[in-house]
Amino acid sequence: MSDTQAIFPALREVPLEAIERELDNMWREHNASVARGTSQAYSRNSVLTLVAFTQGPRHARQVLEAIHSLTVQHPSRAIIISADPADRGSGMRAHIGTYVARDSSSYGEDLVVEAQTEADVARSVSALEDLMRRKKTRCAVGDISWAAQAPWRDIVAQFFDPPEAQPYLEGIERVVIEYAAGDEDAATNSSQASLFAGWLASRLGWRIDPAQKSGLDSSRQYTLRSAADSVIVLEIIARFNVAQRSWWEDPMSFGADAALVSPDGHRQDDVAWVRHGALMSVHLASRLGGPRATFAVARERDLMHMSAASEGAVHLEQLDDLQAVARRAAELFVERALAARTRGRFTVALSGGSTPRSLHTLLAGPDSRNQVDWTQVQFYWGDERYVPPDDPESNYRMARETLLDKLPEVRPQQVHRIHTELPDPAQAADLYEQELRGEFALPAGALPRFDLVYLGLGPDGHTASLFPHTEALRVRERLVVANYVSKLASTRITMTAPVLNAAATVAFLVAGSDKAAALAAVLEGPRDPETYPAQLVQPVHGTLYWLVDRAAAAGLKAHQFE
Ligand code: 6PG
Repeated sequence: MSDTQAIFPALREVPLEAIERELDNMWREHNASVARGTSQAYSRNSVLTLVAFTQGPRHARQVLEAIHSLTVQHPSRAIIISADPADRGSGMRAHIGTYVARDSSSYGEDLVVEAQTEADVARSVSALEDLMRRKKTRCAVGDISWAAQAPWRDIVAQFFDPPEAQPYLEGIERVVIEYAAGDEDAATNSSQASLFAGWLASRLGWRIDPAQKSGLDSSRQYTLRSAADSVIVLEIIARFNVAQRSWWEDPMSFGADAALVSPDGHRQDDVAWVRHGALMSVHLASRLGGPRATFAVARERDLMHMSAASEGAVHLEQLDDLQAVARRAAELFVERALAARTRGRFTVALSGGSTPRSLHTLLAGPDSRNQVDWTQVQFYWGDERYVPPDDPESNYRMARETLLDKLPEVRPQQVHRIHTELPDPAQAADLYEQELRGEFALPAGALPRFDLVYLGLGPDGHTASLFPHTEALRVRERLVVANYVSKLASTRITMTAPVLNAAATVAFLVAGSDKAAALAAVLEGPRDPETYPAQLVQPVHGTLYWLVDRAAAAGLKAHQFE
């Protein structure tokens, strides 16, 4: 007697071929007992078919119980593919049964298909598919993990929707997929990443490089070939030590948009937990003749954000004046800092220039000051003028005087300024890039994801230190660069567009009539980021706020304000 039989005594063991026939028999036997008056009539109900892959009968039992409890209203057909390495039997066997949901008048059907190894899992699926094709069974094979990945497929597909992004599909040369490994990376955990890689490869017509050992498994690095025969390196990275829970452990948290209840019991939209095997991030590096561009598609937790907050949204808010803009910007800071509180870390990139002064004053003021745990805030700068840190022109100095000096809780290690005292701006940029990579623990080719980035807008349409027609506009593979600005006859240090676009929230603060023409050109003019660099800012997987005052908005014609 196999473990499966021991654990599922009620299930009847049948050869795969006989599944449907035996279920019909069971149905008939049941009706006979109804006719004998020994049981209640039930309708046979199996329109919803759930397929789950599990590791062994014990796990299968858990899944089955969870499916039963989940399908109370609507009994379904549950197909459990249970790879049972301990079972040295003859490969695939099916165990079928029926169950009656507590208070429903219909019953569901259970199939536990045993498969010894992962390979058997694949064979079981194709065997079931074959049965379906030959109408030997009445169910469509649906795969929970496939369904669970739908948001990821959507996001990656959406990512390449914009016409200017599509050519990069041809130039993809590297894909990094991170998934949540358990303490000990269980085989099924990595299958999600393999499944996603398989989808990407099938969609883009990639094939395994003949030199590559067969199959996509979890041994991490693969060489693929594009339709144009270019090499694509695929890397699957296990992320350990991520807080994990499986949906059957907490039915309430089943599905991204469920209310997440934090360990201390209160509802929170930002509890950092993830399912076993769930994808954490997908990074694509592509080259189009020029420098390599790196695209980051988000972490699992963000997907939850996505279901909670409308993803990729752009909010244009007209406010009375600079003070009102500053108040709204401070509100956003507090809101985002509170949302990040359970993570114990809130990363913000400040902007330079004069506009943020009022914001900083408000943040250091009584209203915001007491709402934020300042020990959690990590301060960065989106850009810096290449002047000493105590220079009146220094963005760091401005922030120090208007904000940091008023926050004694903020320790020096929370302040990540750009070291403009170094003789060589390029060196300062490199150093800052390394700091970002270190502080955000970035895998190669990955981008830091700031919780909040503040930006200004120059009268010429520049933002950060991405000035019109300057080198930095086209940089995609660096996080931070030294950017020579001929019209200023000086060099600036600036974060690049991919970093700004990887942020969860980006907020432009724009005030004053001298910005009206640039704002209209950026928001309503033809797409020309070389001339209006602020047009480059389109968070891939985040929310964009334009907080503008009436004077700056005076030139806008097409926009309706909220
Ligand atoms: C800088 C900035 C820059 C600034 C705009 C707007 O270092 O100058 O980062 O991008 O945001 O130039 O500046 P004002 O707020 O002074 O108008």
